[in-house]
Amino acid sequence: MSNLENKVAVITGGNSGIGYASAKELKENGAHVIITGRSSEKVKKAAAELGVKGIVADVTKLSQIDNLVNQVKNEFGKVDVLFVNAGVFTPAPIGNNTEESFDYQMDTNFKGAVFTLEKFLPILNESASVINLSSVLANKGVANTAIYSASKAAMNSYTKTSATELAPRKIRVNSINPGPINTPIYGKIGMPEEQLNEMATTFQNRVPLKRFAESSEVAKLVAFLASDDSSFITGSEYNIGGGINVSI
Ligand SMILES: NC(=O)c1ccc[n+]([C@@H]2O[C@H](COP(=O)([O-])OP(=O)(O)OC[C@H]3O[C@@H](n4cnc5c(N)ncnc54)[C@H](OP(=O)(O)O)[C@@H]3O)[C@@H](O)[C@H]2O)c1
Repeated sequence: MSNLENKVAVITGGNSGIGYASAKELKENGAHVIITGRSSEKVKKAAAELGVKGIVADVTKLSQIDNLVNQVKNEFGKVDVLFVNAGVFTPAPIGNNTEESFDYQMDTNFKGAVFTLEKFLPILNESASVINLSSVLANKGVANTAIYSASKAAMNSYTKTSATELAPRKIRVNSINPGPINTPIYGKIGMPEEQLNEMATTFQNRVPLKRFAESSEVAKLVAFLASDDSSFITGSEYNIGGGINVSI
């Protein structure tokens, strides 16, 4: 168990999947947790279930990130853990990528991630930990994921540069690259169930451990990177994909 006693942790996209499981894990490890999301109904419900603070903020809208930072500052002061987790996945083959889907994925997964860190910077404590939720796809060439993978590759590049630039403030910045994790994200693609099951089987077969992981397994890595147990780790990418990162 990682010691997060009295640390203030903000998790974007904390009402579902990996963010939700991480909110639970960080709280159980002693942190004061704030979760966000776009849907006020979902944020309210998740915050009540978890016993944490919920704030509605769409990461694609910079004014809403400003508002989030102000609310956190007024209620909690400074932040020790920033888990930049909010993300969307809309797969499409090359030739079928629309401007709408490009903007949606880039605005959420890359621009939203960048401006979450940029805007939280003034209220990050010395020795804060920033964790960016990326994907093993950032370093792969898996069909139908070009824009999503590029958004995560861009995020990993930003992680490395920000780790170097923020080191003088002892702020650590790392990425987590999950493989397939069993979360509601796949149900939001809008694919017919049969096609969705086919995609899931393809993903699973590529994983040497031959399964999807549960969000709680990623949450344990989030807790480690959030804690002082990882005090000398910055600018790193952590693969958590049952070996998919090394298989063909
Ligand atoms: N599941 C996987 O296999 C997998 C693998 C690799 C990486 N990832 C990454 O893991 C992260 C979490 O995904 P998940 O699988 O846990 O999916 P999920 O259950 O769909 O959760 C996504 C979360 O992001 C929030 N969100 C989406 N757009 C947002 C926006 N514009 N502003 C604020 N919040 C927003 C959603 O809340 P609202 O609906 O309220 O907006 C939700 O809380 C994502 O970055 C995803 O790309 C997932």
